[in-house]
Amino acid sequence: MEVSASILSVNEAESAHTFYRLELAHIDYFHIDVMDEKFVENNTEEMMKMYADHLKNITNIPLDVHLMVEDIKKYVDIFSSNEPRNITFHIEATKNKEEIIELINYIKQYSKVGIAIKPDTDVEKVYEFLPLIHTVMIMTVEPGKGGQKLITGTIEKIKKLKQYIEENNLEIDIEADGGIDTENIKKLKDAGVDIAVVGTALINAKDYKYTVNQLKM
Ligand code: DX5
Ligand code: ZN
Repeated sequence: MEVSASILSVNEAESAHTFYRLELAHIDYFHIDVMDEKFVENNTEEMMKMYADHLKNITNIPLDVHLMVEDIKKYVDIFSSNEPRNITFHIEATKNKEEIIELINYIKQYSKVGIAIKPDTDVEKVYEFLPLIHTVMIMTVEPGKGGQKLITGTIEKIKKLKQYIEENNLEIDIEADGGIDTENIKKLKDAGVDIAVVGTALINAKDYKYTVNQLKM
C-alpha cells in the first residue's frame, strides 16, 4: 500500500517541520488538495500552490495533485510547473466524453492522469476511460474538507472496480481518498486499494514513522 499524505490540514507556521517529518516517515507522495470555491465550497488555491512550490525546493517525494475544481485546464496550467507525478480531476466537473478525452491528453503533457469520482457517482462512469489513465481516485468522503469519517458504502465500489480491472487485465491503480486511518486501512487494502490518501489521521499523529508503517502494513 502506498501512502499519499494530504497536506490540506498542515498549518503554515509548522509546515516546513511537518513536511520534513513526513519525508522522514517515508510517505510515497505529498497529496495536494486544490479547491476552487466553485466545485467545492472551500478555496485552497493559494495555500496549495505555496506548499507545492515549497515542496519542489525541499524534497524529491512526488506530488499527487487532486483538483477539486471546475476549470480543470486552468489549474493544470497553474500546477504543471511543480512537475507533479499525477494530476487527478473529477469526472463530475466535466460535460461529456470528448471533454474528458481532451483533458486526459492535455494532462498527459505534464504528468500521469487520474480521474476521481465522488461517493454518489457510479463507478461504471469511468470504465471507458480506464485504458487511457493511470489511477482512479475513489472518494471515500464527500470532497471539500479534511477530518471527515470514511463512508463505508464506498468500499463496495472499490471491490467492484477492482473486479472490473482484473477481468479486463487493465494496468491501473486504485487510489482512495478521505477519512482513512490505521483502523480502516486493512478493509481498503483487502478491497483492492493501491494508494491511500491520509490527512488528519497522519498529520495529527504523534509519531509519523510509526503511523506510516501502520498504514503500509
Ligand atoms: C477532501 C480531500 C482529501 C482529505 C483527506 O476533499 O480530497 O484528500 O483532505 O484528509 P482526511 O484524511 O482528513 O480525510
Ligand atoms: Zn484529496
